[in-house]
Amino acid sequence: MTSNFLTENQDRFLSELLDWLRIPSVSADPKFHGDVLRAAEYLKTRLEEVGLDNVELCPTAGNPIVYGEKLIDPALPTVLVYGHYDVQPADPYELWTSGPFDPVIKDGNIYARGACDDKGQVYMHVKAFEVLNQNGGVPCNVKVMIEGEEEVGSENLGIFVRSNREKLRADVVLLSDTGIINNETPSIEVGLRGLSYHEVEVTGPNRDLHSGLYGGAVHNPINALCKMIASLHDENGHITIPGFYDNVQVLSEAERAELNKAPYNEEEYKESIGLPATYGEKGYTTLERTSIRPTLDVNGIWGGYTGEGAKTVIASKAYAKISMRLVPNQTSEEISQKFQQHFLSIAPEGVTVVVKPHHGGEPVVTPTDSVAYRAASMAMEDTFGKKPIPTRGGGSIPIVAMFKGELGVDSVLLGFGLDSDAIHSPNEKYGVFNFMKGIETIPLFYQHYARLMQEQQA
Ligand code: BES
Ligand code: MN
Ligand code: MN
Repeated sequence: MTSNFLTENQDRFLSELLDWLRIPSVSADPKFHGDVLRAAEYLKTRLEEVGLDNVELCPTAGNPIVYGEKLIDPALPTVLVYGHYDVQPADPYELWTSGPFDPVIKDGNIYARGACDDKGQVYMHVKAFEVLNQNGGVPCNVKVMIEGEEEVGSENLGIFVRSNREKLRADVVLLSDTGIINNETPSIEVGLRGLSYHEVEVTGPNRDLHSGLYGGAVHNPINALCKMIASLHDENGHITIPGFYDNVQVLSEAERAELNKAPYNEEEYKESIGLPATYGEKGYTTLERTSIRPTLDVNGIWGGYTGEGAKTVIASKAYAKISMRLVPNQTSEEISQKFQQHFLSIAPEGVTVVVKPHHGGEPVVTPTDSVAYRAASMAMEDTFGKKPIPTRGGGSIPIVAMFKGELGVDSVLLGFGLDSDAIHSPNEKYGVFNFMKGIETIPLFYQHYARLMQEQQA
């Protein structure tokens, strides 16, 4: 229905996206606050241009939420589109081949922070409305809600959702913030992992000490922290926190076999991330380890002297950031409690340990038997020529479980990214192919969805 319109407008779509990517909307760092606001304004204008009504910046205690709607008939179903315009910090800058906020298109890819996660994917939705406008307009009601704090935990969006239930009432949430297996193998993520995140602080002596004068007589907090962290996994890669696996949903052999049918090539996988071997929990495949199994990882560790040359010192303090990815039916509260209790209990004599919890998020599984899932599957089949495979994703989008819990609405994760897009890493990219595929597929989703819902009613 749209191929001419798409090819004729591709350059303009891309140049609009590039303008947006030039605005460094980093939510984690207050020094970018002005840019975050500019990015929100930019999006507001683009949503107005494509014909959405009542487009506004909804203030929060943090970054504004961009909201707009097209309500055509109260008798028709409503799709709530969610995404985020904030991006991860771009450092380390020196590892970028071109500036993270100086986007370039090279070899069919858009390189910039946020190209895939999530500005590029949000912009597919904006342009999808243009496509629909060329084809009779949106076939159902649409609400668009794009937040600016996803990468820092969506706390204010949670508050916004809870206090705007009526405004946000919808039949399904549609978001593009996930990926597909590869460009020849379309897939739809039907699960996301949850998250439990903590910062730990280990304190030894009341000041940094000369490691010769005192070395041997005091417990070095960095040594202690390393030993504590090392003990969190056993020799089989199992997590040793008591009760950690109590609520983990066990998949049947049939479900596991199904999951492992997704294409996976160990050699290519290792090659793509420069590793001599994969590693993980014994008894599970890489596909399982990164989807249906919970994990524990140190995200950062610091303390003592890390400057040039050598300084002989026993530091007073050592720190680490430790996160756990959760699966159904673990909850972030349960796991946070178990982690804290365990981590404090393994503190050796001679140091004190403090555990500070950060934002968490709940795991979620989305249905594959819903009208919305079928509509998404049909739309992808139309544009890829192949029926998409349902997969369980390893990442986290905490708001998806919240939509279910607070609004009672399921989500469809219609993402088009690739694992190789290097989201959160230097040289993040997004394929022009994927961007355009999204703009082609999303309008078809709306049309299938509206039609199937009508058929269901009739
Ligand atoms: N879009 C990602 C999550 C994602 C990526 C899910 C790829 C599935 C496939 C999202 O922006 C993200 O980075 N989420 C964070 C959690 C958040 C609380 C900071 C994550 O997964 O680490
Ligand atoms: Mn994202
Ligand atoms: Mn992200």
